[in-house]
Amino acid sequence: MHKNLRLKIGQGADFIFGNLELVGAFQSKRHKNTEKSGAKARFGCMFKPSWLTLAPALGEVLLLTKASNAKRRQLVVGNWKMNGNLRENASLLAAITKGWQGERGADVVICPPYPYLYQSRECLQHSPILLGAQSVNEQDKGAFTGEVSASMLADLDCKFVIIGHNERRRMQHESDQQVAQKFVAVQKAGLIPILCVGESLQDREQGKHLETISRQLNAVFAHTGKDVFSNAVLAYEPVWAVGTGKTATPEQAEEVHKFMRAQLGVLADEVRILYGGSVKAHNAQQLFALADIDGALLGGASLDANEFLAICKAAE
Ligand code: PGA
Repeated sequence: MHKNLRLKIGQGADFIFGNLELVGAFQSKRHKNTEKSGAKARFGCMFKPSWLTLAPALGEVLLLTKASNAKRRQLVVGNWKMNGNLRENASLLAAITKGWQGERGADVVICPPYPYLYQSRECLQHSPILLGAQSVNEQDKGAFTGEVSASMLADLDCKFVIIGHNERRRMQHESDQQVAQKFVAVQKAGLIPILCVGESLQDREQGKHLETISRQLNAVFAHTGKDVFSNAVLAYEPVWAVGTGKTATPEQAEEVHKFMRAQLGVLADEVRILYGGSVKAHNAQQLFALADIDGALLGGASLDANEFLAICKAAE
């Protein structure tokens, strides 16, 4: 049977194939050269785990195996929102890269504001921490002043893009349809969308939270089908919990995560579903212990190295 194999290679190149997940450092002569020349190496193929016996011939391989639940490896995503500057970012990233060496069983992603993607990419170059973006335009290119396309993000080595964040749905009036188009654009550029959904306080109080979430998810399903979610991440972010210090109770979170999972049909057990909304070091452990929560999308807590690292460590 073919399994998913994932090798994290030096600079953070990511290879995901089939069901078995293997993470480690892989250095070949070829990669060292690539690194020197600054070129990007991207390739993929169906891989059988038995081929791993060939790996030592290719270079140095150090593997940590996670044979089950490959696609549900815990993921912690830091969304800096509109915060930071060159000086602060440099010290935050230095502290985070020092504290997270990647030998642990979770993936970590940082999403800085656009102007700092390049700086962050440099700082994360030798770290297992991956780069993501906070938003994207759904168009490929053209006269869209102030906008950024998915291919530009790919050019800067972003691997993930947050879409449908409630701050953009509310403040930038992004519609469900637009979010669906962004989802497609992100995947088309070879990146992984982190699709955020979540209900308002009013929806919650009126007992309509699942209805809202179902509408937001269905808008994307209608556009893309469900199969493409094998290469996507979902995030449940109750609007009333984001930046408010109020966290959903474990019961509230688990109810929605279970519901979202069920909407995914055959991919239900494969897709990572993150929780977001005032996750801090003190409540992370409890949330991560829930069966249907596969990590967190952090706002405020991602701006403090100690808090962020404590959450990353709780995720593994
Ligand atoms: P918060 O933000 O952690 O500050 O509540 C979460 C988010 O917006 O993703």
